[in-house]
Amino acid sequence: MTTTHDALEDPRNADILIYVNGDVVHRDEAKVSVYDSGFMLGDGMWEGMRLYDGVWAFFDEHMDRFFNSCKAVSLDVGTDKAGIASALEKTRQANDMHDDVHCRLMLTRGVKVKPFQHPSLSQSGPTLVIIMEHSKPADNLHKKGIRLATVPQVRGLPMAQDAKYNSHSKLNCVIACLQAEQAGADEGLMLDPHGFVNTTNACNFFIVRRGEVWTSNGDYCMNGVTRQKVIDLCRANDIPVFEKNYSLYEAYGADEAFLTGTFGAQTPVAEIDGKSIGTGDRPVMARIQTLYKQAIADHVAAQKG
Ligand SMILES: Cc1ncc(COP(=O)(O)O)c(C=O)c1O
Repeated sequence: MTTTHDALEDPRNADILIYVNGDVVHRDEAKVSVYDSGFMLGDGMWEGMRLYDGVWAFFDEHMDRFFNSCKAVSLDVGTDKAGIASALEKTRQANDMHDDVHCRLMLTRGVKVKPFQHPSLSQSGPTLVIIMEHSKPADNLHKKGIRLATVPQVRGLPMAQDAKYNSHSKLNCVIACLQAEQAGADEGLMLDPHGFVNTTNACNFFIVRRGEVWTSNGDYCMNGVTRQKVIDLCRANDIPVFEKNYSLYEAYGADEAFLTGTFGAQTPVAEIDGKSIGTGDRPVMARIQTLYKQAIADHVAAQKG
């Protein structure tokens, strides 16, 4: 099985140190309560970030999304952006990590006094956990591409559970991924409530048709940091890009398709529902990958001053 988060095995990950509410402890000792709101209800928010040459790429954009999500569900972070940056730095230094590192930063509503849903039962402040792993995306995925299957599970309307919340509860996405796996594919391609192609269970989705880059109008998908970077890079480099509704008809007939996400940057799609996408040549995606790598290098240089 292949996933968009396949990474090369790295034995150093057996002994990483994990941040738990201010302490940095060996992964075997890193624990949260069974009464934690995240464990009990999926009541929390998270961010996935990558470290390039000592710099957390697009940290401000990740923090904008994170603090916006927490505010929207009245989850008091208990610190500001600088506080999160110093917790990240403490964890990074403890692990002596510099490059090819992926981090999952998780904040929950904290430990509850009773095993019930009401948020007022979470009385001891939030739980902040930071897991950092040595992680280099597996090369084979970038050559062979990923297989998608369209799944029955759709992206919902924003008044149900807005897809813009990067919440601990990812059950909607997990169900989509299971359905894709049962259909013999690697990841699920999810439609919106109107039947237009929207996103996959873990990444944002793009197609290329006749030199144009298309992605969903953004109404029902995660507001991906990488998605926005790709759109911005296309606009800045005269690659026609459109956020619009389109159907499976247009996705099956695309010349190229690819996914975006912080971990894999841009991951090619080999097939959708058993149909090969294009010829396997991906000149537009390759150009975007080059532009994205350069954008990261520029960003890292600017951060380092
Ligand atoms: C469902 C979903 N789509 C897309 C993404 C990619 O977002 P980003 O580019 O910010 O990593 C994520 C990452 O958290 C996600 O959970």
